[in-house]
Amino acid sequence: MNETLELEDQEDLEALECELEARETLAERTARRRAVIQEVEPGADWNDVEHAILTRRSIRKFKGRQPPAHMIRRILEMGRFAPSQGNCQPWSFVVVRDKAMIAEMEQHCVAVCKGMTAGVDYTNYPPGSEQRAAIQANTEQMARAAPNSFHPVPMTAIKSIANGRFAVFHKAPTVILILMDKRGVGVPEIDIGVVGTNIVLGAQSIGLGTCWIGFSRLLSSNAELMEKLGVAPPFELAEAICVGYPIGNPTQQTVSRQTHQIVWWEGGERQDLY
Ligand SMILES: Cc1cc2nc3c(=O)[nH]c(=O)nc-3n(C[C@H](O)[C@H](O)[C@H](O)COP(=O)(O)O)c2cc1C
Repeated sequence: MNETLELEDQEDLEALECELEARETLAERTARRRAVIQEVEPGADWNDVEHAILTRRSIRKFKGRQPPAHMIRRILEMGRFAPSQGNCQPWSFVVVRDKAMIAEMEQHCVAVCKGMTAGVDYTNYPPGSEQRAAIQANTEQMARAAPNSFHPVPMTAIKSIANGRFAVFHKAPTVILILMDKRGVGVPEIDIGVVGTNIVLGAQSIGLGTCWIGFSRLLSSNAELMEKLGVAPPFELAEAICVGYPIGNPTQQTVSRQTHQIVWWEGGERQDLY
C-alpha cells in the first residue's frame, strides 16, 4: 500500500515538473516573440538598406566581366523572399549568361522595333504625302486605344532601338527574365514588381549594377525563342533585369525625383504635405 502511494506521488511530481517546464518554455517563447520597438532618431544616418535604395541607379553600361554565378544565385535568393499576394509567389526565373543567346534576343527586339517604327512613325514620310496622313491617322487611333504603350518615352526609345542607337539589353553579361504565373492570386503583375525590386536592391548591395528591361516583353512575339528560353504556360515573360558590373560611378548622376503630395490624416485632421 505504502509502495503504491509512493509511486503515485512520484508520478504526480514528474507530471508537475513537466507542466512547470512547459509553462516556462511558453513564457520564454512569448518573450522571444514580443516585437522589439526600434526607434530611429530624426536625422539619423541612413542604414544599409536605405543606402542601397538611395544609391541604386539604372545601369546601361557594363564591364565585359561576367559576375560569378554564385552572386546571381544570391540576388535571386533575395527575390525568393519577396512578399506576394496570398504568398502565391507567382514567379520563376530564366538566367541568360550566353552571349549568343543574348545577341539573338537583341536581334529579335530590333526587328520588332523596326517593324513598329515603319508602322507608326509618320515622320519618315514627307509632309502632305498620302502615306504620312494614313500612318498618322493609324498612330493616333492606336495611341487613343493604348495610351501607355504609345507614350512619347517608349516611342522615342523604339526608334533608337530600330536605328541601332540604343541596345535593348545594354550589352549586359547576364540577363534575368522574370516569368509570371498567370494563375497568381489577385494582381500577379504587382508581385513581379516586388520580386524584381528585391533582386535589384540585393544586387546594388553587393556591388552589381542592374537595369529593368520592359522592352524584353517584345521577345514574347517569338514563339521559337520563347520555347528555347523555357518560357511556357502557365508562365509568361513579364519583365527582365540585366545585371553586371557598372562602368564608372553611376550614383554620381542621380535622376531627378518629384516631391509627391502626401495626404496625411492624423488626429482627425487632414494635412497636405510635399
Ligand atoms: C518596370 C520597368 C521597366 C523599365 N524598362 C526599361 C527599359 O526597357 N530600358 C531601360 O533602359 N530602362 C528601363 N527602365 C529603367 C527606367 O528608365 C529608370 O528606372 C528610370 O528612368 C529612373 O532612373 P533610375 O532607375 O536610374 O533611378 C525600366 C524601369 C522599370 C521600373
